[in-house]
Amino acid sequence: MSQEMTVRPAIGKAVERVDGRLKVTGGARYAAEFKVAGITYGVLVMSTIGNGRIRSIDTGAALSASGVLAVITHLNAPRLSFPERPHTVDDYVAPAFGRSLPVLQDDTIYFNGQPVAIVVAETLEQAEYAATLVRVVYEERKPVTSLEAEMARAFPPQEGVGEKPPGRPADVVRGDPQALSKAEAVVDETYTIPIEHHNPMELLSTIAEWSGDKLTLHDKTQWVPNTQMHVAIVFGIPEEDVHVICPFIGGAFGSSLRPWSHPVVAAMAARMVRRPVKLVVTRKQMFSSHGHRPYTVQRVALGATRKGQLTAIVHEGTAQTSLYEENTENLVNATRMLYASPNCITKYRLVRGNVQTPLYMRAPGECSGVFALDSALDELAYKLKIDPLEIRIRNHAAADPENGLPWSSKSLLECYRRGAETFGWSRRTMEPRSMRDGRNLIGLGMATATYPMYRFPSSARARIFSDGTAVVQSSASDMGPGTWTTMKVIGAEALAMDLSRVRSELGDSTLPKAAVHGGSATTASVGSAVHEACLAARAKLLALASNDGRSPLHGTSAEQLDVADGRIFLKNDRARGETYNDILRRHGLDSIEATVESKPGDEREKFSMHAFGAQFIEVRVDSELGVLRVSRVVSVCGGGRIMNEKTARSQLIGGVVGGLGMALMEETVMDHRMGRFVNSSLAEYHVPVNADIPAIETFFVEERDDHVNPLGAKGIGEVSYVGVAAAVANAVFHATGKRVRRLPITLDKLL
Ligand code: MOS
Repeated sequence: MSQEMTVRPAIGKAVERVDGRLKVTGGARYAAEFKVAGITYGVLVMSTIGNGRIRSIDTGAALSASGVLAVITHLNAPRLSFPERPHTVDDYVAPAFGRSLPVLQDDTIYFNGQPVAIVVAETLEQAEYAATLVRVVYEERKPVTSLEAEMARAFPPQEGVGEKPPGRPADVVRGDPQALSKAEAVVDETYTIPIEHHNPMELLSTIAEWSGDKLTLHDKTQWVPNTQMHVAIVFGIPEEDVHVICPFIGGAFGSSLRPWSHPVVAAMAARMVRRPVKLVVTRKQMFSSHGHRPYTVQRVALGATRKGQLTAIVHEGTAQTSLYEENTENLVNATRMLYASPNCITKYRLVRGNVQTPLYMRAPGECSGVFALDSALDELAYKLKIDPLEIRIRNHAAADPENGLPWSSKSLLECYRRGAETFGWSRRTMEPRSMRDGRNLIGLGMATATYPMYRFPSSARARIFSDGTAVVQSSASDMGPGTWTTMKVIGAEALAMDLSRVRSELGDSTLPKAAVHGGSATTASVGSAVHEACLAARAKLLALASNDGRSPLHGTSAEQLDVADGRIFLKNDRARGETYNDILRRHGLDSIEATVESKPGDEREKFSMHAFGAQFIEVRVDSELGVLRVSRVVSVCGGGRIMNEKTARSQLIGGVVGGLGMALMEETVMDHRMGRFVNSSLAEYHVPVNADIPAIETFFVEERDDHVNPLGAKGIGEVSYVGVAAAVANAVFHATGKRVRRLPITLDKLL
């Protein structure tokens, strides 16, 4: 059977989400919604100081409150084994090196809002009430939470970074380190991004149930096998004895990439009360129960010729991390590859603070770094009186400037061209404050977007049944991009079966091991595995037929054959063939299956693999009140081969919405006296709602990539976030003449 398929029944069409109906009717079951007999309820008690130790805990009143089954603190919790490096599979998902928070293991307080106890009771209300009765006496030290105040203590990331590509080395110098001082024109500015929290709809939640020594966890996670492994290590039990189930996720944006304390605490509590325990972290507790986009300060200095050709780039990024782990992200990485410059210096530093360990959030690293880089490039364009789009075109990199490798594919110039055309960039006048509509100043800004293309080892199974249906399976998560649907689409195409006959199954640790659901890599990783598993299952069917004297395909070889609509036939005699069902039935089989572990090859050594795009944004700023509205967005990117036109477009839209949140609204404010966040609710932490979002036009430019993975599909979940904040800041400058270098761009900064 030829690997190149002649029929494409599924890929590239606009396919409805298979889980859409379940989600809007409440039929989709999220972690906390599973019905478990004999359930009890856990409520966490969090530290109210930001630094120090617990002197004493009085649990007496809580224990005697009605319905309370247990109060667990570091004094009576079992001693568990927290691994030094719980995440072992790949760079992208191992941002933090160090020992993960040893929850309820000792009296140390690392940050405000750290769990110090869990109260378990018969009802949620009883547990909530009893949690208020736990009295903790602390020995308090002054928390250290300001990155700026600690800048002198910034240090290069030490552990586990820079080992493998892409790497996050502390210092990289390309070309002449003195180039900046020789440049004809220089821009040298500092950009600041506050802490942001993912704030997904679904709260972190776990239901933990032991049956003897075996543990079942209904847990919200972006990486089912990793939660399984982590919990198994912590409890010192075999991985097979931990069953993790997570069929649906109500948004995550990175917040559930790694297991935080709650599944461990829930499992610990369930073991102690000998009943299943449900633990749902509250919205307020979410602000300290998972990581956040780290606070960053970035200096970007650009040197250029008078014609706007970059001759020097200096990007120094400093990010906050926790006391006990080093969290790193691609803060300065995009700077090394996005624009052609012979000389480039990047520096990456961390500063410790009394905060939860940060974690990837919505296009982590690139999003923050490109805000600084593309703001600075815009500043340079004005300085040189060059159109901001033109300066980007002049600095387009034909090959990866960092390593000289060819791109696996790149259609950035086409994105610029088509984006500008759709947006009407040519109507823009260069001078700030030169475009108006009555009282409103109008600003048009743009920025470049890029995101690296990852592919992680993943496994999948394909099973073809004799009733003419098939299922594709992997333990992947789907936090909303449409993995349920995409797996089915990829399966249907690879099996050459009608879409309606193929199902997908995911989100269960008994299914083949999937890679992390993050880094825009699920289609590349899990999708490739599904594709290969389907081809392997098909090959098994063919072998059965080819070796069977009763089959019309007897004696044929793969090269002579093609498949369509669940039937294998000779390319040059389509009438000679038989269906998958015919083959299975004749052999008395109900089904045939293949499980495949799929891995990237050496393509990363031959090609530089990234997605590229551009965002064009129009803002209107009330000249008297400073009120800022985004009125138009055009976001365009090259996504390789598009698996599902409908969900792919939704991802681009989602990226823009998230980017607008970052640009205009999102900020978690730290009270440095207490080391405590002051706006830990959705009333005070603003995320965009429908009324904030203008017409968003998104589209893909045609792009073919034969190298990135077997599907030729690029990850598109994150690239559409990346340029948005810079494009807004650039549009705001065009409208008002004010350059805002500290996100978010709120109206107080425009007055
Ligand atoms: Mo994402 S920030 O890779 O979940």
